[in-house]
Formats: sequence, C-alpha cells, structure tokens
Amino acid sequence: MPADVVLGMSLGDEGKGKVVDYFSECYDYVVRFNGGNNAGHTLTVNGRKTSVHALPSGILHPHVNNVIGNGCVVDPFQLVKEIEMHGGPSVFKGRLFISHAAHLITPTHIYEDKNSGKNIGTTGKGIGPTYSSKMARTGLRMEDFENDSVLESIYGKETINLLKPFITDTKNLLQLAIKSGANVLLEGAQGSMLDIDHGTYPYVTSSNCTIGAALTGTGLNHKQIRKVYGVTKAYTTRVGEGPFLTEQNNEIGNRLRELGGEVGTTTGRPRRCGWLNGPELRQNCLLNGVDELIVTKLDILDSFDKIQICVSTSEPEPIYISLIGWNTQTKGLRDKSKLPKNLLNLVEVIGKIANIPVTFISTSPERNDVIKL
Ligand code: IMP
Repeated sequence: MPADVVLGMSLGDEGKGKVVDYFSECYDYVVRFNGGNNAGHTLTVNGRKTSVHALPSGILHPHVNNVIGNGCVVDPFQLVKEIEMHGGPSVFKGRLFISHAAHLITPTHIYEDKNSGKNIGTTGKGIGPTYSSKMARTGLRMEDFENDSVLESIYGKETINLLKPFITDTKNLLQLAIKSGANVLLEGAQGSMLDIDHGTYPYVTSSNCTIGAALTGTGLNHKQIRKVYGVTKAYTTRVGEGPFLTEQNNEIGNRLRELGGEVGTTTGRPRRCGWLNGPELRQNCLLNGVDELIVTKLDILDSFDKIQICVSTSEPEPIYISLIGWNTQTKGLRDKSKLPKNLLNLVEVIGKIANIPVTFISTSPERNDVIKL
C-alpha cells in the first residue's frame, strides 16, 4: 500500500488539520514530516475543539499510529506538555513514534528566534535557528538523549525519560508498515508559500513544506506516494510579515477575519485576510503534483454578495473576477444536493483555475462536516 499526502497550497492555516483528522479514519499511520510546534492544527469533534502543534492530527483516532518524522524539529518541553494535555504517555504507548533523527529545539534556539525572527514575524518557537543548526551539522537529535548527559542539564531527567520510549527509526518503521500493507497518510505543516525554497523568501519558515519534504522528511521514496491532496481555503490568510498581493486591508478583510475566526492557533495573532490568489494556487498545485483539491471555509463566504478571485498577477495591480454569492447558510451541510448553485459554481471556477478537480469541500470546523463532490 502506498502513502497519500496532504499539503497546504497557500500560507498555512488552510484547514489541513481538520482534513487529516477526517481522513484518519481510513489510515493506520499519520505522519508529520516537516516543521515543529510552529504549526497549529485545530480539530473539532462533536463541538469539542482540540489544538495540536507538534503531534500529528491523527491522535484523536485510537487506531492510528502517529509518527513525528526525521524532517521535524522537536521542542521536548512542548511535546511533553502536548502529550500530557492529550491524556499522558500511557495514552500514546505503542502509537506514537518519534524519529531518532528529528532535531532538538533548545532554549538557545528559542532565545535566538525571539530576537532575530522579529522582522519576519516568526512564531518564536526556535524553528529557524534549529534548522540552521541542522544544516550547519552542529545540531542535536532525538537519538542524543541516549548518550549525551549534557542534555539532562537542558531538558531534565523527567522530560527525557518520558520521551525516550517513543524514539525509534521511523524510516524503517514506515517502510515496514508500507510493506505490510498499512495505509499511511503524510501530513504537511505550513504551506507552499512558506516553503524555504519556493515560498516568499525570506518571509518563510525554515523547512520545505512542499512535496519533496514528504520524502526527505520520512524516508519514503517517490514510488510509494499514491495521491497528493492539496488543501486551500476559499480565500487567503497570512500570519506574520511578508508579501500578500490579494490582501484586503479594508472592510472585506475585517469581515473575513471576523467571520472566519482568523486568529493564529499557535501565537493568537490576528491573521491578515484577502481573496484567493488563482495563479499562485495553480502554480502550487503543479509544484506539488496535486491530484485532488480540497476547498475549506466556503461557509465563511455565506453572507458575501460578491466573491472575488485573483486571476492575474502580472499587472502592477492584481486582476480579479467577481462571482455572485449565495446568501444562504451552508455551514454544517453534508449533502451535496443542498449546496447552492452559486457555491458550486465558485468551486468549479476554483478547480478550473487550479487545473485540478475539487473533490471535497469542508463546510465547518466539525470533523464530519465534509462533502465529497
Ligand atoms: P517560523 O516557522 O516560526 O520560523 O515562522 C516563519 C513564518 O511562517 C512566520 O510568518 C509564521 O507566522 C509562519 N508560520 C509558521 N508556522 C505556521 C503555521 O502553521 N501556519 C501559518 N503560518 C505559519
């Protein structure tokens, strides 16, 4: 059985967490392969909201094995906090696996990030400095818990002892899982426009968030990837600094922020809001080899008379097309036949612009509020 991948097509916060939680029902393994606790994935089940940062979004399904791959960076203090918040180590026994090769975020990395990351608007979690250490070959890895006594003075015995049983060679684990016919879902964090190579450099995160990272960050090969799902909101948001061509620094942006609850899950910062950037979406679908597109947060547009999509970015000012809204509540719908014609039209336009079929839409944060088209 090969693996499937879920990737963000924009600047993070596309709703990947919900999508992964929804899909997890059908998978045996859910694997994070990039980033760390800079991510914030919100999962809502029966009205109960849960946030995960370093843990994979499959954790709410007891049958799912959760893997933190070698491409991730780990803040041991924060990971322990998250494990405790979700029931403690006993809940994760035998179903959480952390790569021995994942790099350790140290307090020095966090200090450095808080001081040097200000002009980019980083999350301040030490992500950039940790990946810098990795590339400079001076980093510490999870496996160093085994034999580096200095680490005890950084993290303390308790933290180290709690995490040690979860550390393993996750590359071998995943290869064996695939060989034995397990279903594996690779969960991207952040999004293509935050990718260190393909994003809006230098206003990016310090890992690759695009398809290549799903391989290098897990140790799987390209022949083992079956399907790539791209996730996009029906509009765009950005936290932190950096270019944002379709940003609506006006009443429209304020409405999107308010109706969409657009506040950063990790930092609590208000998100900048704007219209969907069509050419960027198309480019990112191509870049990642997306097979199917999933559109989230269409319900946030329920009360908009007019919805815009940017169709050209080559002029000094972006060119938009306008679509008529549907002025009907669609939040929570699960039946395709109940969807307004104008909403389906918008979805079709998005698919055409992206040059990829839209196969699912999400109609609310709730796990099962999803419609397969
Ligand atoms: P860093 O990843 O903390 O270094 O932050 C670099 C940039 O990526 C900043 O603009 C952050 O706001 C942004 N960023 C990092 N993680 C996420 C995420 O999960 N969602 C959205 N933006 C993120």
